[in-house]
Amino acid sequence: MGTNPLILKKRLQLTLLSPWKKDFPALNEVSADLSPGRLSYLDSAATCQVPEIVIANVADYLRAGQGNAGRGMHGLSERATTVIENCRQKVAKLIHCNSEQITFTKGTTESINLVANGLKHGITSNYSILVTQLEHHSNLLPWQQLCQQTGAKLNVLPIDARGNIDDSQLDMFLSENCALFAFTHCSNVLGNQPNIQHLTDSAKHFEVATLIDGAQAISHDDVNLQQIDCDYYAFSGHKLYAPGGSGILYSKDHSNLEPLLLGGGIVNKTTIADYELRTDSLRLEAGSANLVALTGLSSAIDYINSIGYGAIQRHEQALVTELVQRINNETSFDIVSSLNSKNLVSFFSPKYHCHDVASLLAEKKVAVRAGHHCAQPCLQAIGVKHCLRASFGLYNDSDDIAQLIEGIKEIEETLA
Ligand code: ALA
Repeated sequence: MGTNPLILKKRLQLTLLSPWKKDFPALNEVSADLSPGRLSYLDSAATCQVPEIVIANVADYLRAGQGNAGRGMHGLSERATTVIENCRQKVAKLIHCNSEQITFTKGTTESINLVANGLKHGITSNYSILVTQLEHHSNLLPWQQLCQQTGAKLNVLPIDARGNIDDSQLDMFLSENCALFAFTHCSNVLGNQPNIQHLTDSAKHFEVATLIDGAQAISHDDVNLQQIDCDYYAFSGHKLYAPGGSGILYSKDHSNLEPLLLGGGIVNKTTIADYELRTDSLRLEAGSANLVALTGLSSAIDYINSIGYGAIQRHEQALVTELVQRINNETSFDIVSSLNSKNLVSFFSPKYHCHDVASLLAEKKVAVRAGHHCAQPCLQAIGVKHCLRASFGLYNDSDDIAQLIEGIKEIEETLA
């Protein structure tokens, strides 16, 4: 007897396919850990896989011969300059700002460190810096260090057990001679998004500079910096389907930032005793640029634009809904991430150590992240020491979720 067509229809409706999965060789040909079998890659909040078109463009760039931008009059050097400046234009268009406001770094962490270090000369013990308890360590430690080095006070907006920022003290902290307020666009553990417009507008009211860590938002949010109007925005190319090695720092005005690194390409004039920095954003980009990373970033932005953020959001949101339901219905794990999370689900069980579960899942070719996710103060607030996190990219589908759920169920039986 054939399958009841009604059941088949129901099954088909429940199965979410990704039209973009075929674009990613790591998920179709050679799996990331080189062992046989289907890989369920659920760690895109850590880093995304790279589509074939990006790989091909990077390979084409290298095949044609690499050059060092601004260091020679020859064709390869000029081409390198074009790669960088084209990439700057594409990034600027993506996040709605001017290309002169874009500085390239090697990642979000370097971008944030650049600002913390770059403002140090103007900070004294009379100032305060404000952060939230939701932050990844990369948007906390640089501010801790800045305060330790200058004597400035570090204020922290607490979060509740669900990760919501308690802003009852916001105005008080902003009025405490606050030099800068740093906050995340999206939590890497809980997936919740603070009201960044409200936080930015409040800071502006007190003439406080703002830095937004956009690492977890850039893969699924159309970021409009003209509208948000923050002072600094940081993210990484590898969270946007580009190869590792590119970071972006948007600065509304970079003129009061001291460079993090000193070296070639950043001066108007140098004598044996002193130097005079350029005034444009190139003064923050000492040394040779990562042309492979920037070629890849340009191509990845084209790829994202060809799909559109709306389609990406709808796909990832459907995956989040499906996974939340299946964890709740079929496992003993509790969801700790936000119901509004757009691309990740974090879960936890006091019965198992999450590293044990993640290792056993890895043996079943399911890649998730486990631990404190470099956000220890956030985990303290929600009352768990560690958790598992499944995070989606546009290539994931219902089969990835099924592989994870089957894996968890088998592990629960094994460890019971
Ligand atoms: N911040 C990245 C993550 O949450 C590395 O996994």
